[in-house]
Amino acid sequence: MIYVGCDHGGYQLKLELIKYLDENGFEYNDMGCNGEPVDYPDIAEAVCRKVTENDTNKGILVCGTGIGISMAANKIKGIRAALCADWYSAKYTRLHNDANVICMGGRTTGAGSAVEMLDVFLHTDFEGGRHATRINKIKKLED
Ligand code: RB5
Repeated sequence: MIYVGCDHGGYQLKLELIKYLDENGFEYNDMGCNGEPVDYPDIAEAVCRKVTENDTNKGILVCGTGIGISMAANKIKGIRAALCADWYSAKYTRLHNDANVICMGGRTTGAGSAVEMLDVFLHTDFEGGRHATRINKIKKLED
């Protein structure tokens, strides 16, 4: 399952990302907000708690810059949230970092670019191997 969330700064871009999910037959759960002012850590927590319930889950988080919501997301054990602003990063954060959440900035990233990033993020698998060793080291930092 894909869990989606935003604050007011990310709402318009979230609508574009949801349109992509709808058009491409992805199952998702939109956990808010609906444009009203909210605190991005609350949304990050709600989405990330769901993402960590299952290894195959993914999350999409959007705030104004993507920075605050990614900072909050990465405080949650089991979350590897990647703030992306380019296609290469969106691809390699799956291949090398096994990112389970992609974060974007609604006030910094255009819809076309955001949709391309989401597309490659959702269609790229973790490479494993030497990268798994490094992810295990990240996991140890959580303890
Ligand atoms: C909200 O105005 C804004 O601070 C938030 O969306 C985000 O950019 C924080 O990092």
